[in-house]
Amino acid sequence: MVINVGLLGLGTVGSGTAKILLDPAHRHPLVSRLALAKVGVRSLDKPRPVDIPADHLTTDLESIVSDPSIDIVVELIGGLEPARSLILKAISHGKHVVTANKAVIARYGDEIFTAANAAGVYVLLEAAVGGGIPVVQPLKQALGVNHIHAVTGIINGTTNYILTRMQQEGGDFEAILADAQRLGYAEADPSADVDGLDAADKIAILASLAFGGRIKLSEVYSEGIRHVTAADITYANRLGFVIKLLAIARRCPPDPKAAAATESGNEPVDELQLRVHPTLVPEAHPLATVNDVYNAILVEGDPIGQVMFFGPGAGEGPTASAVVSDIINIAATLISSQATTITPQTANPLLACTHQHYCKVSPMADLVSRFYLRLLAEDQPGVIGKLGLCFGRHHVSLESIVQIGMRDHRAEIVIVSHEVTEANFQTALDEIREFPEISSVPSVLRVL
Ligand code: HSE
Repeated sequence: MVINVGLLGLGTVGSGTAKILLDPAHRHPLVSRLALAKVGVRSLDKPRPVDIPADHLTTDLESIVSDPSIDIVVELIGGLEPARSLILKAISHGKHVVTANKAVIARYGDEIFTAANAAGVYVLLEAAVGGGIPVVQPLKQALGVNHIHAVTGIINGTTNYILTRMQQEGGDFEAILADAQRLGYAEADPSADVDGLDAADKIAILASLAFGGRIKLSEVYSEGIRHVTAADITYANRLGFVIKLLAIARRCPPDPKAAAATESGNEPVDELQLRVHPTLVPEAHPLATVNDVYNAILVEGDPIGQVMFFGPGAGEGPTASAVVSDIINIAATLISSQATTITPQTANPLLACTHQHYCKVSPMADLVSRFYLRLLAEDQPGVIGKLGLCFGRHHVSLESIVQIGMRDHRAEIVIVSHEVTEANFQTALDEIREFPEISSVPSVLRVL
């Protein structure tokens, strides 16, 4: 039995995928059971880094998703449309789908998986998060028996590259972003990466897998790295931290109201924190030494404890490795069942999406975290006392408060709080911003 693959897109990841499919030697034997039957491209005339027979190429992507001979459609065109429509059409024609498209899955996962379950097809997405790092299938399979407490990741290579260079060179964000763009590490429009949106898509997907429920992307708090300065990186280092863009999905500590609901016979509803923001990470933390374009995802659960996945989060070869791993996963189930279609009764629950409900996401105001704050103030008696009193009134306990020196003829003060609720900290900060002695508050960052 040969499994026919239709590939949509022959860009970087598409070319890498085609190269693996066309060269099965020394790989898993299942790769040789896959035939690259059709490849959908934007233009037939473009030179290709991979040798595809001319009669396999088409610009009519719709013809691939409706072709009766195709078993698996691999969507690697990226973007929202026509990717979403093509995935849905492939599903409606009974095709299994493999995609690397985190943006489509994070926004339309509900629609796509509902359609896939109804049609009896699989939709797999290992390449959508962490590039070549196997993390999606491990969460579904090898770690599936665990009660997951938290998934914390560095899942955007561009921002990790920029922050690593800021740390190593002491440079400011804008200059290093421009250099990263020149070197091809950052897009001409860097917004999806530097504003945290790409990482938000990815953590929404990881949270859905780890916590077994769908996620509304609008409920993921996301803050990028544009406001991180060389000064903050230096002060963070002095305090024993590095600054990383973390994506965090965490089960909230049990809520007494939920416990009461259990006693009254109802299942407690776990709430999740879902957030992406630059974070001060203690130097001894396993994520602190993940540098450059590398990604890493730390999963914490019971009984596994901590397990960390580390590797290349993007790039042709690594991402294609993840894509083809999904293709052979589907091929294995089709070949072992001698059927190209499945039904809800015969679907492999370790590959299919098995949840329909939405997770409950806790508001940011309820988040309990430590904070790092840098402000510029008049250098006069009583300012630090006034700050301490204001924080105290709002139940914000301070771990340290240091006047570092002078910047722009103002006293530069760095504060680190103990764990406090976001709401209390922000209320105190709103009051502090209005103090006549405070010139500006250049930085507010959360501490892991
Ligand atoms: N733009 C992403 C990153 C790679 O910088 O990590 C693709 O997900």
